[in-house]
Amino acid sequence: MSEERIRIFDTTLRDGEQSPGCSMNLQEKLALARQLSKLGADIIEAGFPIASEGDLESVKAISREVREPVICALARTSPADIEHAQEALQDAAHPRIHTFIATSDIHLEHKLRMTREQVLVEVDRAVRQARSSVDDVEFSAEDATRSDWDYLIEVFDVAVAAGASTLNVPDTVGYTMPGEYHELIQFLRKHVKGADDLIFSLHCHNDLGLAAANSLAAIRAGARQVECTVNGIGERAGNTALEEVVMSLKTRPDVYGGLDTRIVTTEIWPTSRLLSTITGVAVQPNKAIVGENAFAHEAGIHQDGVLKNKLTYEIMTPESIGKASNNLVLGKHSGRHAFRERLSEMGLAIEGDDLEGAFKRFKALADKKKTIYNEDIEAIVSDRVMQDEDRFELGGLNITSGTFAEPHATVELTVDGVVKKATALGTGPVDAVFKAIADLTETKSELLRYQVNAITAGMDAQGEVSVTLSEDQRRVIGHGAHTDIIVASGKAYVHALNKLEWHKKRRGVGEPRGI
Ligand code: KIV
Ligand code: ZN
Repeated sequence: MSEERIRIFDTTLRDGEQSPGCSMNLQEKLALARQLSKLGADIIEAGFPIASEGDLESVKAISREVREPVICALARTSPADIEHAQEALQDAAHPRIHTFIATSDIHLEHKLRMTREQVLVEVDRAVRQARSSVDDVEFSAEDATRSDWDYLIEVFDVAVAAGASTLNVPDTVGYTMPGEYHELIQFLRKHVKGADDLIFSLHCHNDLGLAAANSLAAIRAGARQVECTVNGIGERAGNTALEEVVMSLKTRPDVYGGLDTRIVTTEIWPTSRLLSTITGVAVQPNKAIVGENAFAHEAGIHQDGVLKNKLTYEIMTPESIGKASNNLVLGKHSGRHAFRERLSEMGLAIEGDDLEGAFKRFKALADKKKTIYNEDIEAIVSDRVMQDEDRFELGGLNITSGTFAEPHATVELTVDGVVKKATALGTGPVDAVFKAIADLTETKSELLRYQVNAITAGMDAQGEVSVTLSEDQRRVIGHGAHTDIIVASGKAYVHALNKLEWHKKRRGVGEPRGI
């Protein structure tokens, strides 16, 4: 079983989605799952089905539609959790149930209030229940890195005897150090019964900035599954970033004995962009591999070296992660075919009405803007999110602003199919537009954050606006792009309001998500 290859277990849709501002709706999760499949993830952890009706539905939908990778659902050890995971995975081509329970004394005493013996009984029961419907069961010892090593052996032995074939060793609180994690994995591989036939998995959090270093240390110790997320999103400081581990293995085969993954590295950049576009959460500019500056050479001495020979300062190329150095792609004369080709190269394959709508928006933009970059296209496509179920649609808007008169806005909005108009005054044009929209939608949400970025360089660049709203403890991010930032703002606000409506419709079962 332990073939010499690193399996990539992507948990962007589960652990990643738990990070603030990163919640996704069903359509968004499906779009990302399709892209993760194209990226070559071996296993996609699609959700935690008992956490909410939305999670259950999305694991079901991903199971039905994404057929190549293993689709995994998370469950605590309780019978109801496992039943939900079983139900969610019914239609999966390759289903996996991932069940977990904490094993550190600190968690046993203060969180679970259980004895070590009781935990062993739970593990045995849960893994057997999971195995009653699927062959592929993963067991995680939550907070493994703060657990007693001898007890971990006992727990894993029970899980394996009950039928688990992947054993995950989470550094739940981002506490371990590379050398220590390396030793732990080696120790487990030496002492767990039947270790040679099992896959040992790592799962690191980045609280001390060591998630990638710890993950790579575990690989050197024999772990063969990496649990990670795109852009490193996840609880608190995040999870191991997929791109950092994958590109480390690629760049340093001499250190990792040529161990490789199935990841199509040229899909890394499109996947990273898709995730940021969906969540509205930007990647920090100096983030390794996928940050905007990761391949930018600013210092004169560096630029001089790179011009003479790229190898002087470049250990990998932007092209290797799918980031074309010159991503100028289309213009106003480009046709439907070229547009569609470009979308598919960018991992944004859309069809039918979605494609038609995006093409129309592309043409409209090309009339205003001479050069259309990949980032513009992403913005055009992201305009489509949840269109089917949108309650509100922005028609048009007009503003007066400046220093001579109080800024005011007139907004036309379709609400449940009925066209309505409102006018409002504001402290500035954006405020006036938002007030008019709030009036028309009767929203009770609170505006938490408003952010504008230029998508590309140039005076004719599109502005991309992100708006964070909160209502009933639900936080959503909407985004909109346009060459006029006031229109982009209106679009972002309406997008966020539609997301809130979407969540209201699905509210119900088990909203609280935390593990
Ligand atoms: O961090 C953690 O321990 C987890 C488990 C559920 C694997 O996310
Ligand atoms: Zn985690």
